[in-house]
Amino acid sequence: MQTNVWKKHTREEIKQRVFDAIDQNVNFIESDVIGIPGSRLDPRVFYQDAPFLADAPFLNALIRNPNHIGCHTLGDSEPFFAGTQAIELDTIRICAEDILNAQPGTVDGYVASGGTEANIQAAWIYRNYFQQEKGAQSNDIAVICSADNHYSAAKAANLLNLRFVRINVDDDTRNIDPQHLSSTLSHLKNDGVKHVIVIANMMTTMFGSVDHPDDYTPALKAHDMEYFIHVDGAYGGFVYPFNGEEHGLDFSHPDISSVTLDAHKMVQAPYGTGVFLIRKGYMKYVRNSEASYVKGLDATLIGSRSGANAIAIWMILSTYGKQGWTEKIQTLIERANRIARALTHHNIRFFQERGSNIITIRAEDMPIELINAFHLVPDDHDNPRWVKIVVMEHVTDDKVSRFIERLSMVVNT
Ligand SMILES: Cc1ncc(COP(=O)(O)O)c(C=O)c1O
Repeated sequence: MQTNVWKKHTREEIKQRVFDAIDQNVNFIESDVIGIPGSRLDPRVFYQDAPFLADAPFLNALIRNPNHIGCHTLGDSEPFFAGTQAIELDTIRICAEDILNAQPGTVDGYVASGGTEANIQAAWIYRNYFQQEKGAQSNDIAVICSADNHYSAAKAANLLNLRFVRINVDDDTRNIDPQHLSSTLSHLKNDGVKHVIVIANMMTTMFGSVDHPDDYTPALKAHDMEYFIHVDGAYGGFVYPFNGEEHGLDFSHPDISSVTLDAHKMVQAPYGTGVFLIRKGYMKYVRNSEASYVKGLDATLIGSRSGANAIAIWMILSTYGKQGWTEKIQTLIERANRIARALTHHNIRFFQERGSNIITIRAEDMPIELINAFHLVPDDHDNPRWVKIVVMEHVTDDKVSRFIERLSMVVNT
């Protein structure tokens, strides 16, 4: 059943909701608060009487500095910041239920520092699950992902002392190589690995390429591996679900148990706005009973974190509503398609996943003066094989036109 938490609100409604929430939090100045090891931002540096603040809900939230430590979907949290925690709960529900098709109330989550933290959080939970429930040793557990996966998967495996393997992809389609997956799983199995944490991509960093759970599951089952599939939607989570393409990378798929999103990429929220989401029942594997001074304990990697970040995500999503967001994303994809048509016209080789706003061009086909003039980003600064264009909001129609015109001039001379 589709829920509808994600509504468009007017600027006035958004302002009212945020100011009301801030007012429900503890007031460090007006109340006799002497036990909390936190305060508002220093007023000698961050002026609190500036007139524009009366119209600036996000800046107010920053100044009032709520600490959203912990994971509020679990129930008990610090009561001092309950007002703004409620906005974070709405943000999590929009992401889990309206974007990623979870059944109401079935997903836990929190606003993490970014995609890296959210990916590590997932691997940390699954490692502890395998250790606590299955008696696994670190060496029995592997993190696997595609060759195009973001390096945060390697970071997670390194930090958690797990094996780490990348599966080759086809150089043209960026699809996972099934033979390499199968031989890797056989090799891991012979080496004692019984448990696998898959990180599947909903749009990779360099290519915007998308994995499908069925790329992995038949091979995992055939090798009798116990597994979890975490989706890294740090880039694509706010793009791919809005392009009308079929995908199995959300909570409607029984094999997907957690997802990373990042609001500080496509959503243009401030840095520090990753979103970690996981089916209920798993956060307990990292809930730390030593955090006894924190009401509700802590089950997050980060600990203290700014409540203003969750508010920023909610404000942006509420400004658009689901339909408005869909229209915005489809406009950006159409702009990317214009670039793709021009490249095709000039016989320049590139990769674009259907419905993606990332275009990744063979570096040898792209004139260097265009790479430099338009700041295309290489896959490897020392030895670039590919360069990419990411059509975000600042990549306006006229910039796209200038790129296409310049391309025509350069390739026709
Ligand atoms: C697909 C993907 N995953 C994870 C990350 C890491 O995100 P962050 O830099 O927010 O930690 C990125 C960043 O580019 C990414 O593109």
